[in-house]
Amino acid sequence: MARITKLEDIVSLCKRRGFIFQSSEIYGGLASCYDYGPLGVELKNNVKKAWWNSVVQMRDDVVGLDCSILMHPLVWKASGHVDKFADLIAECKKCNARTRVDHLAEHAEEHTEHISIDAAMAKEHDLSNKVCPNCGAVGGFTEPMPFKLMFETQMGANVDDSMTMHLRPETAQGIFANFRNVLDTTRVKIPFGIAQIGKSFRNEVTTKAFIFRTREFEQAELEFFCEPGTDEKWFEHWKKTRFDWYVELGIKKENLRMRDHAGDELAHYAKSCVDVEYKFPLGSGDWQELEGIANRTDFDLRQHQRGIRTLNKWFENNRLMDKIELAAEAEDYESGPLSYFDDEQKKRYIPYVIEPSAGIDRSALAFLVDAYDEEEVRGEKRNLLRFHHALAPIKVGVFPLVKREGMPEIAKNIYNDLKRHFNCFYDEKGAVGRRYRRQDEAGTPFCITVDGQTKEDNTVTVRDRDSMEQVRVATDQLRSHLQERLDM
Ligand code: GLY
Repeated sequence: MARITKLEDIVSLCKRRGFIFQSSEIYGGLASCYDYGPLGVELKNNVKKAWWNSVVQMRDDVVGLDCSILMHPLVWKASGHVDKFADLIAECKKCNARTRVDHLAEHAEEHTEHISIDAAMAKEHDLSNKVCPNCGAVGGFTEPMPFKLMFETQMGANVDDSMTMHLRPETAQGIFANFRNVLDTTRVKIPFGIAQIGKSFRNEVTTKAFIFRTREFEQAELEFFCEPGTDEKWFEHWKKTRFDWYVELGIKKENLRMRDHAGDELAHYAKSCVDVEYKFPLGSGDWQELEGIANRTDFDLRQHQRGIRTLNKWFENNRLMDKIELAAEAEDYESGPLSYFDDEQKKRYIPYVIEPSAGIDRSALAFLVDAYDEEEVRGEKRNLLRFHHALAPIKVGVFPLVKREGMPEIAKNIYNDLKRHFNCFYDEKGAVGRRYRRQDEAGTPFCITVDGQTKEDNTVTVRDRDSMEQVRVATDQLRSHLQERLDM
């Protein structure tokens, strides 16, 4: 049964079975970038679908959005990212490797190759007893310095109209920038949320740990707008709702926990934050963040009201950001363009925001790790992924027992019918036992086999991935049988 999974087992299975490959592998690979293969893309799409289903489709108080990655340069000035979104790093004087100060281990600690990604930020920056994770030198660091995390790029071909832009480091700002549009075009009333799934980019100093921390990653974010004073209540609501989502999708409760951020860990926009953490097998069995749930207060909407007031100055400054300061807040900011008028209470205010922000790649990794199992069956090792049915990349495998006596034709007909409803896989190669094992390793919940009895009584076997038990089902009942067992 359950055993301690090693990350190497997951990495190896992901590569062997086409879940995840290193980016640009034929060129030797690109550090910290990964590609999702045929099974991986199905898994990732299913994680996103499950999130969207829970956060948008099943709720009456959340709508969706899909914003561009490139945004107006003032967005990142107003949001605070231009000035504040940086990690503190130190350079090793011996090997010149740069490391995040909060990732440096103490010399006295048992030191492994793995870089601890413990979130606790060093309170003081005394690095005299810290070890360089690259060369092992102790205490030979430069003074800590900020390292900016946003990627820059240029937009426009001409010198006159070319602008320095940023790849978004969070999807959240696209939501704040569209708050007014959504209010004006839908019937939403506070409290309500706007949700978005999309790519974000951060030039992380320390990557490592497979798809846990990458420079290009996918976020699933909800900005939930509420009346000031009700924010604590909604914070509690979203903490519970988001924790339960992981449990409902099969993550073992003992591998999940909630952790409050310490004051010095809080992002510049947050009043409070908790992380949903998963016990990843990252060498030291560390708990790591899957999702942060933050109380962003009215910070972002207020900042964008200041951002809009900065536009003229920005044009006067030939659209250069370097020297301009964000405009001061207007005295009547509470009735500004990003305020909300409450019809029933006849009052206007800037809403507070509760933000559950999940990492899709991290979640996919947690679902892979948690589902991974090895067991011995009749003296042979069986590897399997016990995915929740909703997350399984392939729902149904369809096989003829042998490649003769008309079995492949019947199996093909069943496959062609079922694939209109479920993601199916047809396989007629090799011994049926091996075909079952391949589907176990892909996490496929059910396999159907057409055998000698099928021609006599129109029944097939349906084998369950987890118990390996088989039941006979009439072919004309197959679809409803599977729909019921897959809960689809
Ligand atoms: N929007 C929160 C984050 O990206 O961490």
